[in-house]
This record gives sequence, C-alpha cells and structure tokens, in this order.
Amino acid sequence: MTDNPATLPQTCLVARAGGTGLADLQLVEEPLRAPGEGEVLLEMLRMTINPADLLLLEGRYGHQPSAPFTPGAEGMGRVLAVGAGVRGLAPGDLAMPAPTANWRSHRVLKAPFVVPLPADADPDQAAMLKANPATALVMLEELVSLSPGDWVVMNAGNSALGQNVLRLAGTMGVNVAAIVRREGAATLPRSLGAAAVLVDDGTGPVPALPDGAQARLALDAVGGAATERLGGMLADGGTVVTYGLLSGAAPRLSAHDLVFRGLTLRGFWLADWFANTPPERIQALFDRLTDHLAKGVIGAKVEARFPLTDIAGAVQSAAREGRDGKILLTGGGA
Ligand SMILES: NC(=O)c1ccc[n+]([C@@H]2O[C@H](COP(=O)([O-])OP(=O)(O)OC[C@H]3O[C@@H](n4cnc5c(N)ncnc54)[C@H](OP(=O)(O)O)[C@@H]3O)[C@@H](O)[C@H]2O)c1
Repeated sequence: MTDNPATLPQTCLVARAGGTGLADLQLVEEPLRAPGEGEVLLEMLRMTINPADLLLLEGRYGHQPSAPFTPGAEGMGRVLAVGAGVRGLAPGDLAMPAPTANWRSHRVLKAPFVVPLPADADPDQAAMLKANPATALVMLEELVSLSPGDWVVMNAGNSALGQNVLRLAGTMGVNVAAIVRREGAATLPRSLGAAAVLVDDGTGPVPALPDGAQARLALDAVGGAATERLGGMLADGGTVVTYGLLSGAAPRLSAHDLVFRGLTLRGFWLADWFANTPPERIQALFDRLTDHLAKGVIGAKVEARFPLTDIAGAVQSAAREGRDGKILLTGGGA
C-alpha cells in the first residue's frame, strides 16, 4: 500500500460509449477506490486508439460488448498504490493493463492482470505493445513455417501492425513486400527495410513481387477484392491470413486459387490466441516483447497525442484517412 491512502485521487475520468457512432461517447467522473488486497491502482499515462476501438464505437466490431462500455484495448500507466499481498509491483513502477476498457484516467486491477514494464520504457511505444506487436509476432512465427529468404506480402503496409511486421521480419531474415494504397504512405515501410513497397489502389493489374518472387504468407487487413489480389502474389500452396476488415468487405479468394492452386484462406484474432494459449506461453510472449521494446526492435509511428479530456477530438483525428501514425490519449499523470 502507499504511505498515505488519503493522498490518492478520490475520483477518475472514464469514457463511456453507446456503440452507435464515433460521437456516441461521453467522459464521466466516477469515484475511485483504493486498491484492496491483491489489487493495484494504476494511473493511466497513455492509451491507444486502434481501428478496432473505432469499429466498437460504431457498433461494427466482430465481438461487440453490450452498451454502455469503456473502449480502449491498450494502454500503460504508473502504479500509484498496491494492496496487501502484491508482489513484484510497487508505487512508481510502469505497467500495462492486460484487460481492455482502458480509456480512463485510473483503474484498479487484480495484480495478475497488470504486466510490469521496464522502468525506462517509452510510454508511447509501451502503450502500443499489446495488440499490434503481439499479433505481428504470432502471425509471423506460428501460422506458416518461414525461413530466411522467404517472402511475406501484406496490405496496409504503413499501418502500426505493418511496421511491426517489417521490424520483426527483419530479425528473421524474411523479405516483406508492403502494399500501401497511396504514394505518400510508401516512405515509412521503405525506411523500415521493406524488400519491396508496392503502391496499389486496387484498380490496375495485381502488382508483382521483384525478380519473380512469390510469397508463402500473405497478411490481409483489408478484405474484399484486396484479399484476392494478395492471392495473386502467393506461391501455389501459400496461405492468406485475414486479420482485419478495413474495407468492411468479406475476404475472398477465387475458386481457381482455392482448388487448383491450393491456396488457404484463414483468419487470425489475437484475443482468440490469448484465450487458447497456456498462460506460461503468453508470459513468454510478453517477456520477448518487453525485451524487443527495450531494444527498440518493435515500435510504430505516432502522429499526435490528445488529452483524455479531448476524447472527441482524438477519436475524430484517429478516424481520418491518411493520418501519419497513431493517435494516442494521455492520462492524468502524463
Ligand atoms: N486480428 C487481430 O487480432 C488484430 C490485432 C491487431 C490489429 N488488427 C487489425 O490490423 C489492422 C491494422 O491495425 P493498425 O492498428 O496497425 O492500424 P493503423 O496503424 O491505425 O493504420 C490503419 C491502416 O489501415 C489502412 N486503411 C484504412 N482503411 C483502409 C481501406 N479501406 N483499405 C485499405 N487500407 C485501409 C490505412 O491506410 P492509409 O494510411 O492509407 O489511410 C493504414 O495503413 C486493423 O484492421 C486492425 O483491426 C487485428
């Protein structure tokens, strides 16, 4: 416990969404209790606004909670106080909440749901650790067996997820072809070592990989016709993994690709991976990711930070087409 519980804040700010649109969001003040036995009080420093959060606000996410709900899959904060019996976490430590519902100034969690972060962790990058770096790592390592020199192709190649795929694939010696939908988005994947950057707005012929290369794995965040275009860049027997539906259209491959070329189309959802993976493997994943974070191996570009009190402006900015990096929320202690 902290020295004097009376010095702890007595209230916190919490975002409440109704799930009927981006504007259907309120910031409410709630009483804040001191942490009980085995609990940790976190002061949130940074929270991410991800595409899945925007879909939740619009009521369009694949796994929609009942309203009202607090959005925010990701965030990080500083420990303000711990209850009796908590080991390994102390006031002042940086930590990340494992659960969702993080768009708030403070939260009380049971200690096993609070992941310690290195003391010198960059708050922006630490806030973005849970979703995209974890998804990138699992998709690169567990869905297809990749060897150095193999090719992976992905769309939304300038996204935070794409940036982490590029960074992690670089450590594996795997070539990545990054597809972006506009010329202005090509610089970022180029700077991160993409073996090829293909600007494709989906209207012309399917772009080819350099020197006749063909990919073994395609990572699809877009769906619809974009999935089929990825199929055209795969070697026979290759796998397309749909993990996002940015176009809103269902992913599809042609019957020819499925039957005569032996392509596989499958989905990936990190929440499902967490639910079906033993806790010690999840722990090992986060140990690797915090190590990667400390060494600067993973990371994504940030466009702007907004205070939680300007949640409406932040959400509007995050929903803009062509933004140049993530929009983050800053909490009370930022
Ligand atoms: N399945 C999972 O477990 C899992 C986990 C993490 C993330 N995801 C998904 O991964 C995707 C990327 O997330 P992120 O956080 O990395 O995104 P982000 O950094 O916020 O970037 C969004 C990206 O989507 C592109 N985009 C938006 N609408 C598009 C459209 N209609 N067609 C083509 N591209 C479009 C943007 O291109 P411009 O820059 O040109 O606007 C940008 O590259 C999202 O769909 C997210 O839900 C899934």
